Amino acid sequence: KYSITSKADYKIRKKLDTADTLFEQGELDEAQKHYERILAKYPDSPRAVYGKAETLNKLAELRQSNPVLEESIETMSRVLQLPDTPDELFIAAGRKLADRQQFRGWGGKAVGTWKQLIQRFPDKLEFQNQLGVSYLMIGQNEKARNAFKTVLEKTPSDGFAQVHLGFIIKTTDNNPQAAIPLMRAGIESGAPGTVDGRFFFQLGDALQRTNQSDEAYRIYSLGAEKGLFLSTYQRSLYNSEGLTGRPWWTPEQTGYVHNLKLLEDNWQTIREEGLSQLDQKTGAFIPEEENLREKGDWKQFTLYQRGRKVEQNCAKVPKTCALLDRIPDATTCKRGQIKFSVMNPGVHVWPHCGPTNCRIRAHLGLIVPPGPKIRVVNETREWLEGKFIIFDDSFEHEVWHNGKDLRLVLIVDFWHPELTQQQRRNLSPI
Ligand code: LMR
Ligand code: MN
Repeated sequence: KYSITSKADYKIRKKLDTADTLFEQGELDEAQKHYERILAKYPDSPRAVYGKAETLNKLAELRQSNPVLEESIETMSRVLQLPDTPDELFIAAGRKLADRQQFRGWGGKAVGTWKQLIQRFPDKLEFQNQLGVSYLMIGQNEKARNAFKTVLEKTPSDGFAQVHLGFIIKTTDNNPQAAIPLMRAGIESGAPGTVDGRFFFQLGDALQRTNQSDEAYRIYSLGAEKGLFLSTYQRSLYNSEGLTGRPWWTPEQTGYVHNLKLLEDNWQTIREEGLSQLDQKTGAFIPEEENLREKGDWKQFTLYQRGRKVEQNCAKVPKTCALLDRIPDATTCKRGQIKFSVMNPGVHVWPHCGPTNCRIRAHLGLIVPPGPKIRVVNETREWLEGKFIIFDDSFEHEVWHNGKDLRLVLIVDFWHPELTQQQRRNLSPI
């Protein structure tokens, strides 16, 4: 413990050790009393302030209390202000503090903490990397980019900075070509923090978009081997364990036969309402905005998302939403959407995977000219008017529309039928 003990603390080390032992034994109230007693006499004792902050943090966890967590954060930040906090204690406190600030939802404060660490230890590039991650978490991608660039100027082979900078270049700049060498080198470094599904996902995608799909599938199967993906072709990153995964589903397999039939029986009503929203002036379709398209015009009109009704849109297609309201297995699906999807000739949607294995995606054909096709893994199908096709969109799928007229479908996401009611309640929305 020498390395975390200042000269002044050394003189009271017995008291500090006793308090620490109480903390380690889970005697939190007792530990707290001991730290307070030390602080009454030595208010600037780095170890006592740190110990108090740690104890408060444990208490906050046990009581699930934000006020106590905030007091812990406040206390921990004092460790970084004290006149003679030893290096090692300063670093431990800084890491802990940034982590707790992030957890509390104070990403901006976490940024400030990493900056304090960098100021005291400008040569420790790890802190520069963590600063970059903090910036990413609050959506300050340009500042994140600069942090990772700073690292790479000093250590061009830093794998952690490489994957992150590559990730920014891929997702923010939409420049797969430039992202590939960085992400590849980062992943190959095997450095801590680089073996992450998001990086394997984006590297593979960058390769697929630059005509290197053999190479992409090598990355995907490596990711599957490492347990980052459910399989080479099922690459959703928010998964529930143990669910049956198959690319294409029959109505019987879903268990939702009656619900599907209800919508099929009313498909023309649904089509009329969907069509009524296609008018450029009065309609409310909006272009797909997830950067999934290579080219073409593809728009969506959303009725439910994350298990909630989009009231102002449903008001425009009331009969459709009245039908849907009879299908809670779809309308309550917090990990999906229900939406009209209109695709004009000329569209190519890149191969991609949805975010989660917790939903099954059903498409009801409404206007189906010859031309449009959808591939899920290794089987390509076409839509039929008034009929559903059903697939698991966590598996790789790709869409082309090489016909002459627009294609309109209703997309309905259902909870994966094997999820229990309790699981459905507890899963976070996506
Ligand atoms: C997709 O979800 O990727 C597409 O299948 C959507 C669509 O309109 O075909
Ligand atoms: Mn999709």
